[in-house]
Amino acid sequence: MNIAEGASLASTLDKDQDWWRGAVIYQIYPRSFQDSNGDGIGDLRGIVQRLPYIASLGVDAIWISPFFTSPMKDFGYDVSDYCDIDPMFGSLADFDAVVETAHRLGIKVMIDLVLSHTSDQHLWFKESRVDRDNDKADWYVWADPKPDGSPPNNWLSIFGGSAWQWSTQREQYFLHNFLSSQPDLNFHEPAVQDALLDVARFWLHRGVDGFRLDTINFYVHDAELRDNPALPPEKRNDTIAPRVNPYNHQDHLYSKNRPENLAFLRKLRAVMDPFNAAAVGEVGDSLRGLQIIGEYTAGNDLMQMCYAFEFLSGTQPDAAQIATVMTAFDDAAAEGWACWAFSNHDVKRHPTRWNLSPAAQRLFVTMMMCLRGSVCIYQGEELGLPEADVAFDDLQDPYGIEFWPEFKGRDGCRTPMVWEPSNAHGGFSTAPRTWLPVSHEHMHMSVGQQEDDPGALVHHYRRAIAFRAAHVALIKGDHDAVTSKGDIVYFTRSHDGEDIFCAFNLSDSPSEFALPKGNWEPIGSELGGAHVSADGHLHLGPWQPCLAKRAAG
Ligand code: BGC
Ligand code: MG
Repeated sequence: MNIAEGASLASTLDKDQDWWRGAVIYQIYPRSFQDSNGDGIGDLRGIVQRLPYIASLGVDAIWISPFFTSPMKDFGYDVSDYCDIDPMFGSLADFDAVVETAHRLGIKVMIDLVLSHTSDQHLWFKESRVDRDNDKADWYVWADPKPDGSPPNNWLSIFGGSAWQWSTQREQYFLHNFLSSQPDLNFHEPAVQDALLDVARFWLHRGVDGFRLDTINFYVHDAELRDNPALPPEKRNDTIAPRVNPYNHQDHLYSKNRPENLAFLRKLRAVMDPFNAAAVGEVGDSLRGLQIIGEYTAGNDLMQMCYAFEFLSGTQPDAAQIATVMTAFDDAAAEGWACWAFSNHDVKRHPTRWNLSPAAQRLFVTMMMCLRGSVCIYQGEELGLPEADVAFDDLQDPYGIEFWPEFKGRDGCRTPMVWEPSNAHGGFSTAPRTWLPVSHEHMHMSVGQQEDDPGALVHHYRRAIAFRAAHVALIKGDHDAVTSKGDIVYFTRSHDGEDIFCAFNLSDSPSEFALPKGNWEPIGSELGGAHVSADGHLHLGPWQPCLAKRAAG
């Protein structure tokens, strides 16, 4: 440990080591949050301006999607310099202002490290591709063609086509799990691991509290480059890629999910621990996501939490499915900790994806605040924004351009935030044109309008977040078996003598229900919680919760 790490250690010792457990994390997609310099693209100074709003929601932390130097082929998930800010987002001084302002407002800052791959414009790759014996020759995954010139194996890119791209310079193929401009780093090379750990150190020294780690199960590939087996149609699902994507036709045993990932995650955790920093690792796998989360969050020397895809899929989960997911998580990851999300920058916004009524949107967030795990909410979710309709001519996302129109890509969830109805671009920007158009449908749902309307969804989000914050059992507690009965899913969260019973009617029809034995006092009336009759009998209206606290005696 060096002197700076020691000093930081001393200053963090008195803080809550467990701050991440049960935290509510607000995801900012910086291109679309707030533009401060009138270029039509959101930026770091814009985030500084809007941090008081985020603080007013009562969240514990922000996760900021990538703002590093990048040619923006995948909108920042293609990094060409890990230790600098892309000029379109500002400067390192602007980033310091984000951290300082967030900390003053009591908000932790998590940044999005994309370590599995770089941009092809990164100096490491430019050097690596020159020939087979330069200093960085083994920093990426290079392989000779088969004798017939075809790619070394059958691995597929999520964004379409083979995962191998030919380099005329080196006369070899290189691996890419995403765009061909996102070459995959070779984690079998120790110098690569060391360089990436230095990236983490750089940002920890700058004051970040943690990381959202992109695609952590993709870090290491099979050194023997074995073919992935085919997946029969009945085993395919759309958890991480749309149904029309042939990526779903393989079991990705060798291109990702390798056991060697664990050793790197342990090294990364050791770098983070002196700073009291926490990570949420993104685990994308359609077959064994929960099992991998279990492996990656076990014990105290790996990831604190992993980002789960279970509630990001196409169909609205009913009571039985919620019970199944939570039970499967307990079975696969008894010691582990999930981070749940309904929406993010990669999927259709959930009110549209699940076709939710306003009442259903309210109940879903109330339930999310009661689930065991941490929670990510995605900018604009608190306004109930539907997926924006983006015309083909306005598309930016290469994933959508590739699979259009069966899959329209990710632009519809990435359009700018709406702050004020009066301004041409909803208060997002003063530019003549913004990088993606502001949705007309969103205009009448702006923050400004909702603040003035006591019945608006944003106030419900605040109340649901505050409800969780007021009950340690909801933040850190265990739960008994998550059970479904008809349209109702229920469980009890417990911590340190506090027991909170939670039941949710996930349907348009009323339901009747009996509370578990004991003396329960209803709470959460501000969330529309049901009244409990003296005999413990409950009538749950459509999309109504019942929240109750075990009374003493
Ligand atoms: C990110 C995506 C990105 C991909 C490649 C993901 O899981 O969330 O936005 O395109 O990783 O970095
Ligand atoms: Mg700007």
